[in-house]
Amino acid sequence: MIHYDFDGKVAVVTGAAGGIGRATARRLAAAGARVVVADLDLDQAEETVKLIAGDGGDAAAVRVDVAESASVKAMVDFTVRRYGGLDYAHNNAGIVGAGANIADMPDEVWERGIAVMLSGVFYGMKHEIPAILARGGGAIVNTSSGAGLIGFPGMGNYVAAKHGVIGLTRTAALEYITQGIRINAICPGTARSRMVDDWMRGSAEAEAQVAALHPIGRIAEADEIAEAVLWLLSGAASFVVGAALPVDGGYTIT
Ligand SMILES: NC(=O)c1ccc[n+]([C@@H]2O[C@H](COP(=O)([O-])OP(=O)(O)OC[C@H]3O[C@@H](n4cnc5c(N)ncnc54)[C@H](O)[C@@H]3O)[C@@H](O)[C@H]2O)c1
Repeated sequence: MIHYDFDGKVAVVTGAAGGIGRATARRLAAAGARVVVADLDLDQAEETVKLIAGDGGDAAAVRVDVAESASVKAMVDFTVRRYGGLDYAHNNAGIVGAGANIADMPDEVWERGIAVMLSGVFYGMKHEIPAILARGGGAIVNTSSGAGLIGFPGMGNYVAAKHGVIGLTRTAALEYITQGIRINAICPGTARSRMVDDWMRGSAEAEAQVAALHPIGRIAEADEIAEAVLWLLSGAASFVVGAALPVDGGYTIT
């Protein structure tokens, strides 16, 4: 594992109560960042903070609903009040896909998917960018998905939101790179998380079926996705701008 240096920097991670967001928050804190652990689920966000404190890191939890602009603004305001500014953000909160084809998808299921996973990333960047600019620059990573690059039957709301995240990321990257903010997206394949555990319901058979879809022959640990996020946020990726990086064991190249 590469050691990154985020000493003295401040980061906010949404969806950090579990899975990929928790793994990113822990890795950022281990690399020296002060981390705001933001999630709808405050109890589990506090749990992430305890894990970080146990590792000797500095973090604070805040409840956010990324689907609400005012709530996301309050998250950024909290970060600036608590730690004096903002340098990095990982906009990562997400929910499971519809589980229904388009003609059968209730409007509210469509709307919630778009609100959390597309508007959530928009509100994130909208409120984070001024704070990052005030520090003279930084970096943002948005979580898209393999489903941001290819279609998946029964997941139209998820697929549309995740494709949208890539378009929004590319546009934001062009708008802000000259002001010192590098903005990229990651496109994970299936990674072990609460969402995926709920979906597979502890069935080894289900996991084997999903693993077989990935040319690498297994699903990822959340930490393997966090590793890519850390790299994209770090100076090691200094010439990477507006990328949609697959971290998917080969899923989307088959
Ligand atoms: N795990 C995978 O296989 C996989 C693959 C591709 C993309 N992703 C994406 O990775 C991201 C993280 O998911 P994960 O797999 O770690 O699952 P997870 O369920 O562990 O994490 C998602 C987090 O988002 C939070 N959240 C949901 N709605 C929210 C809202 N409105 N406001 C704030 N927080 C909210 C949840 O409480 C949860 O803690 C998601 O965007 C997901 O779509 C995951």
